[in-house]
Amino acid sequence: MRALLRAMEVFVTRRIPPAGLRTLSEAGGCAVRLWDSEEPVPRAELLAAVAGKQGLLCLLSDRVDRELLEAAGPSLKVISTMSVGFDHLDLHEIKKRGIRVGYTPDVLTDATAELSVALLLATCRRLPESAEEVKNGGWTTWKPLWMCGYGLSGSTVGIIGLGRIGQAVARRLKPFGVKKFLYTGSRPKTEIAAEFQAEFVPITRLAEEADFVVVTCALTPETQGICNKDFFSRMRKNAVFINTSRGAVVNQEDLYDALVNGQIAAAGLDVTTPEPLPTDHPLLSLKNCVILPHIGSATYTTRNTMSVLAANNLLAGLRGEPMPSELLL
Ligand code: NDP
Ligand code: DGY
Repeated sequence: MRALLRAMEVFVTRRIPPAGLRTLSEAGGCAVRLWDSEEPVPRAELLAAVAGKQGLLCLLSDRVDRELLEAAGPSLKVISTMSVGFDHLDLHEIKKRGIRVGYTPDVLTDATAELSVALLLATCRRLPESAEEVKNGGWTTWKPLWMCGYGLSGSTVGIIGLGRIGQAVARRLKPFGVKKFLYTGSRPKTEIAAEFQAEFVPITRLAEEADFVVVTCALTPETQGICNKDFFSRMRKNAVFINTSRGAVVNQEDLYDALVNGQIAAAGLDVTTPEPLPTDHPLLSLKNCVILPHIGSATYTTRNTMSVLAANNLLAGLRGEPMPSELLL
């Protein structure tokens, strides 16, 4: 009788860490088709591959929209994304079809907060620019005013989105001697903010008072483009802007102008629009802009853990059981 039961079919859109693949293959009852590559599956192949599948394990670079859901058909029961961000998923269309969604919160909070702090320090203390000067002969002698930047001690830090990662960033920055934390979001989080004596302020005040702005919010229709011309024009000339959330929270043309016109001192971005950023993009020509290739969660341990969580979410969803981390729609 058991042999007559058909295995659930799932499509995995990329070569994920081995621990996650092992979790799927050892589970049994699940026939995995893997896009076995470091590079994304072309859209046409993705649409063909999902047809008739019960499960989809995807990444933040896979757009899950009506077109994909229609290509998958009514068999699709579970989508598991190996990311905490879910702005690539059309939740309205997914919910309409009764599909369950798994994601990977918490397990990447520390790694992403660590990277946010690393990027902040690299940007405000001009590390990439300084390292380059050592290599290109620009280091001629010790000069009192050369390669000066801005320090955290006694500063005001403004956090846009005091969620899991935003809190973990604040926790790490506090021991650097930050004098004051400001934050913004959809509502005050009084208990959470008490740990940092952080003050809930309108985004305009955060822009005006922060020496460092760190963006750690989710990308939503409300946060799309909130860091724009008006925002940058309110920022202090000595202020440093850091974004480790999603590129689309920032209007990049406005950021470019602010950096070129000296409206703000510097920016550090782990996320951009588009990704990858074309190598001839104007932002890449600026010495006061440090850009990383979306590596917030990129530690071996974190990526392994994310892959196992994504696999377990998928399996639980297929079995009709509670997922370890389900996004409630
Ligand atoms: P959380 O859901 O814990 O936090 C998201 C925060 O966004 C919440 O605090 C929420 O505040 C805030 N937010 C929502 N709307 C607004 C708004 N209008 N203005 C300001 N803040 C707002 O998620 P995580 O901290 O776990 O992750 C945050 C994001 O970081 C992810 O969505 C993802 O895009 C990105 N990320 C990037 C990584 C990278 O590699 N660079 C790695 C991991 C995540 P409120 O509760 O008040 O609504
Ligand atoms: C996420 O999980 O949303 C990040 O962007 C990558 O880890």
